[in-house]
Amino acid sequence: MISNITPTNTEIDVEPSNRIFLELGNNTYDYKDLLSELIDNAIAAKRPDRTLEVSITLYVDENNSAIRFLISDNAAGIQSEKLAPAISPAALYGSNSLNEHGLGMKQAIAGLGKLDYLATKTQDEVQARVITELKFGKQKISLADFDSDSGTEISIKHLRPIVQTNAGTITRSIVPYLGARYRRFLKPDARRMILRLSIKSSTTDETQYEWNVEELKPVYFHPSTRENRPVILAYELSGNGWRAHLTFGYAPRNDAEYDELGLEVPSKFHPYKVSLSRQGLDVLLHDRVILFHQLSQLGIVPTPHNDYNVIRGEIYLVEGFSTAITKNSIIQDNPFSECIDKVRTILNGTSEGPRGSTHNYLKTKTYPDEIPEKLLRDRLIEWLKNNPMNKKNTVNAEYAVEGIEGNIDILADDEAWELKVQQANALDVYQLFMYMDVGQIEKGYLVASSFSGGAQVAADWIISHHDKELVLAPRDQFPINHSPSTSEREEYY
Ligand SMILES: Nc1ncnc2c1ncn2[C@@H]1O[C@H](COP(=O)(O)OP(=O)(O)OP(=O)(O)O)[C@@H](O)[C@H]1O
Ligand SMILES: [Mg+2]
Repeated sequence: MISNITPTNTEIDVEPSNRIFLELGNNTYDYKDLLSELIDNAIAAKRPDRTLEVSITLYVDENNSAIRFLISDNAAGIQSEKLAPAISPAALYGSNSLNEHGLGMKQAIAGLGKLDYLATKTQDEVQARVITELKFGKQKISLADFDSDSGTEISIKHLRPIVQTNAGTITRSIVPYLGARYRRFLKPDARRMILRLSIKSSTTDETQYEWNVEELKPVYFHPSTRENRPVILAYELSGNGWRAHLTFGYAPRNDAEYDELGLEVPSKFHPYKVSLSRQGLDVLLHDRVILFHQLSQLGIVPTPHNDYNVIRGEIYLVEGFSTAITKNSIIQDNPFSECIDKVRTILNGTSEGPRGSTHNYLKTKTYPDEIPEKLLRDRLIEWLKNNPMNKKNTVNAEYAVEGIEGNIDILADDEAWELKVQQANALDVYQLFMYMDVGQIEKGYLVASSFSGGAQVAADWIISHHDKELVLAPRDQFPINHSPSTSEREEYY
């Protein structure tokens, strides 16, 4: 602890260091993240009156070594009074747009190599302003002809090894991820951006490869409708100062399900290929994906497990969240942890989700409340009639008990079987007991997803006070929980 602070006239002078422009390149970004910083900036400056076009060109020499990186857009350009602060790290900042920290462009340029030039032109200018250095202090600008009404072009030289020149790698792991990340801007019927990548020869200017980035979305297979649809769609979550939407579903789990959707089975490089490393939810902020495939990373499940491979979804952060200075993570503040807690408890069935129901969505092997009771009952009847261990001879559905208004779900060789899709409680136990008592049936089964404490107490009471055999049987012990076949869907839904 200090004490007795006394002011003096001695000063220190803290100078900005140009090294910052180099250090900003030493970040944890991968190649597509570096591209994304530059694409984000073009999107943020998009003109409302035209589709945004972003072209990324990589010039390579005869040995396929990267010589020059060029990104150009037809957005609004950087206004002249904003050019100096745009270069100065953290001089511009905001919270509700893609321009957040005032760092991205500098991080991307230094991450990729060294600035060759930045040229930018607004609509009211005749020529573009050009700068050739990222540094503090005064610097002269040049003017140059520019072949668009407005826009920005950044040329980078002395490229670092992170720059991908391999066409195969670009096809497999850059283009699809950009298509997934910017999917909301690339919708074919409401396209807001055209994003092109190409590789050109630095000597002849000839185009060697070209890619048009297309929208790429997670594919879902809805367990009951068997369509490409999530189970939860844009469910609104909110808390103290934040809002988010949760979309959740399951990927098709085999070739037959892709076939049923009329879709191709994704290749092993596809961003949403069903696999251990690609399970989970994407986190979106400002309309683009910040983080892919989050599940154990967000603590929604303790560890990755093959059982979760088909889990898909989106946590769309609407309001109250911010990214870290490298946008491959979200600041772990109260809104974010509150939001993730909500997502976790909804998905694991410990708090209410859509339609006020609770359901363990992470248990992907079964879809308890997705299967109609009648279908479950008919499957149980089939099983009672056919299982080799304890086959019943006479099985009746909806068996009417003389004199009381009500039917036993199934009467199988003098055994009463009652079925509940959800959890069973004490009243359900007593309803079964009533049928058994009035119908003089000695043995009864109550089949349900789970049983409340009360249900257990009621069953114990009946067994000890009446001469009846009453079994509480969890439904996952019977082979009746698989997702419906096409014909079952037609009949029961
Ligand atoms: N392509 C572009 N078109 C128009 N303006 C741009 C473009 N690129 C950068 N700018 C301007 O330069 C500023 C600085 O960009 P930079 O990416 O370094 O930081 P930022 O976008 O403000 O914040 P972040 O760190 O979140 O990226 C932007 O705020 C924007 O005003
Ligand atoms: Mg930026």
